[in-house]
Amino acid sequence: MPPTPIPLSDLDYGPEEEAAILRVLRSRWLSMGPEVQAFEAEMARFLGVEHAFAVSSGTAALHLACLALGIGPGDEVIQPAINFVAAANTTVAVGATPVFADILGLDEPTIDPEAIERLLTPRTRAVVVMHYGGYPARLADITELCSRRGVALIEDACHAIGALYLDERQRPPHGAQSGTVGDIGCFSFFSNKNIAMGEGGLVVTRRPDLAERLRLLRSHGMTTLTWDRHRGHASTYDVVAHGYNYRLDELHAALGRCQLRKLPGNNVRRAALVAVYRQALSAFDGWIVPFATFAGESACHLSVVVAPDTPTRDDAVKHLKGAGVQTSLHYPCVAGFDAFRRFAAPSLDRSEAFTSRVITLPLFPTMTVDQVHEICRELALATGQETTSGSVGRG
Ligand SMILES: Cc1ncc(COP(=O)(O)O)c(C=O)c1O
Repeated sequence: MPPTPIPLSDLDYGPEEEAAILRVLRSRWLSMGPEVQAFEAEMARFLGVEHAFAVSSGTAALHLACLALGIGPGDEVIQPAINFVAAANTTVAVGATPVFADILGLDEPTIDPEAIERLLTPRTRAVVVMHYGGYPARLADITELCSRRGVALIEDACHAIGALYLDERQRPPHGAQSGTVGDIGCFSFFSNKNIAMGEGGLVVTRRPDLAERLRLLRSHGMTTLTWDRHRGHASTYDVVAHGYNYRLDELHAALGRCQLRKLPGNNVRRAALVAVYRQALSAFDGWIVPFATFAGESACHLSVVVAPDTPTRDDAVKHLKGAGVQTSLHYPCVAGFDAFRRFAAPSLDRSEAFTSRVITLPLFPTMTVDQVHEICRELALATGQETTSGSVGRG
C-alpha cells in the first residue's frame, strides 16, 4: 500500500464554517456589509489596534500601505530578499524601487537591521519587515532605526497573525502583537495561512491619518459604501481619491470570524507540533532549525529546516516526495527573479545560501504528532541521520 500523503498544509474547517456560509447566503447580502464590519471589529479587538480594514488579499493590504504612505516614483523601499514577492511587486506597482536587504542568518531568516542601516539613502521612504514563518523580525532595533531616520515601517505580518514580539531587553515594542508595531501592518488570509479564508487580508494602523487614506483607497476613494446607501445612511457619494476595489465580501468575512475564534487554540497546536519537529531535527548533524533561540511567541506558520548543503537538500526533497510528503521552499530570493534583476542588490550571501538549502515541511493544526515523527524518520532515512523519532514504517 502506498503511504498516505501528508500535505504541506490543510484546513481546520468544520460545521462552524458551513453554518457561517449558510447564514450569509440566507441573509441575501453578499458584498461588504455586517459580516465584514463584525470581522473588522473582532480583528481590531484581537490585535489591540484602533483601525483594521478587511481587504481582498494580503497583496491588496501591501499595495494600500504603499499608497496610503504616499510612496511613489523616485522613492526606495528597503525589504528582505527572503520574502514572498508581494511586497516587491506592490513597491513596483506604485512606481518605487525595491531595495533588497540580506537576512540575519540561516538560523534567523528575517531582515538584518544593520543591512537596513547600510542601505538607507535620502530616497528611502519605507522599510518592510516580514515576520518569517510567524517569528517577528527584530522590531526593537528596526522601529528605533526607522523613527531616528524618519522612515515609515510596514509590517508584512502575513505569516504572523497572533505572534507576540518579546525583546529580551524589554525595550518597546515588547509584548506587542506583530502587525501593530509599524505605521501599517498587513495580513493575508490565503488558504494556507493561520486564518484561512480562501482569499482575504487585513490592513491595520494606529494612525488616524493613514486609517482615513486606507478606508478611502480600499473602495475607489468613494465617501460612502453600497452598504451605507442600502441602509439608507447615505444616498450619494463623492470620489475624493484614486482608489481600487480591494473590498472583502460577506462570505469570506464570515469564514474569517470562525477562523479567528479557532486561532489561539490552533496557534498553540502549531507550536506543540513545531516543538516535536525541533526535538527530532536538532539531532541531525549539520542541519539548522531556525529560530532555536527565539524569545517571543511565534504564530508558527511554517516549519522549516536548513540542510547542510544544496545536494543534501535536493535529495531529501526527492525522497520525501517519493514517501508522499509534500514540501515547499519559502522562499526563492526575490532579487534573483527575472523581473527583479534590474534592481541593483548588494551582497545577499545569507539569503542566497538560505534559499539553496531550506526545506519547508508540512505544518497545520489538524496534523498529528505521529505524522511529524514519520516525516522526521523519512528525512533521517534520506540523509543517513540518527533520529529520535523511531524506525520508519507507515501504512
Ligand atoms: C509573506 C507574505 N506576504 C504577502 C503575501 C500575499 O498575500 P496574498 O496571497 O493574500 O495576496 C503572502 C501570501 O502568500 C505572504 O506569505
